[in-house]
Amino acid sequence: MKWVPRALLVLAAFAAAAQPVPPANLAATMQDISHALGVSCGYCHSAERGSGQPEPKKEIARAMMAMTRDINARIEAAVGKTAAETARVDCVTCHRGVAVPRQLSDVLMQTLREKGAAAAVAQYRDLYDRYSGRGAYDFGEDTLLGIAQTLANSRPDDAIALLQLNLEFHPKSAQSYVVLAYAYTRKIDDASAMAALEKALTIEPDNGVARGQLEQLKSYHRKR
Ligand code: HEC
Ligand code: HEC
Repeated sequence: MKWVPRALLVLAAFAAAAQPVPPANLAATMQDISHALGVSCGYCHSAERGSGQPEPKKEIARAMMAMTRDINARIEAAVGKTAAETARVDCVTCHRGVAVPRQLSDVLMQTLREKGAAAAVAQYRDLYDRYSGRGAYDFGEDTLLGIAQTLANSRPDDAIALLQLNLEFHPKSAQSYVVLAYAYTRKIDDASAMAALEKALTIEPDNGVARGQLEQLKSYHRKR
């Protein structure tokens, strides 16, 4: 038998005998897209070889490959550079290691809507354990803060749960304490609100918003 690169042997074992010989870079391409989506080969190659069963994820992937080629051609045309000079969009550009690339805030909002705050908190912890440091999701201070801000008025308990979680991961987030204070005032819990504002000011003594709100709450309580 004549010498064959290892990658091709793997592919030869994988492909049915009737398949045309894959190009040498196919193995690398397949590794790349698996990695980009955070899945194994069987995610797309889901049917028994030669069974003729449909492979829906593979069909999507095929369409995505065509789309990605199209995007790159349009980008080259837009910036007027050659392919070699232009920064490329790849599967990983959008997918970042997950099959359905949603923003973390969208993922959490959906869970909040369907299953409530406790489930969203558990999901954040789980995703953090699995994906932190891999660029899949933005675990920065602003993700939970943004969601909590939209909820603080109508669902203060949910906002408080998310802000406490945010402070566990980002203990120096003065802004989380400010929004936390607001959520407590929605629950007529001014003592907790004032404690949260004090915390914000310990972290950021120059935080004018925290200072102003604290003064307001204090003067309100003096008047009563
Ligand atoms: C995200 C979906 C996806 C993943 C994951 C994936 N493949 Fe593929 N694979 C495809 C698509 C789509 C084609 C067809 C490409 C084309 O027609 O241009 C293909 C083609 C192939 C082929 C050529 C024969 C055929 O079925 O068309 C081989 C062999 C192959 N893949 C092996 C692998 C191996 C090994 C892995 C894991 C390391 C893998 N693939 C992971 C989607 C995937
Ligand atoms: C411009 C952004 C973008 C690029 C580039 C891109 N994708 Fe996607 N892809 C998406 C989005 C968004 C979804 C999820 C759509 C949905 O189901 O809501 C998706 C879904 C998929 C799915 C279905 C996942 C599932 O479990 O339902 C596959 C498979 C896939 N992409 C493969 C690829 C491959 C392979 C490449 C590179 C050749 C690629 N994508 C490049 C945006 C992109």
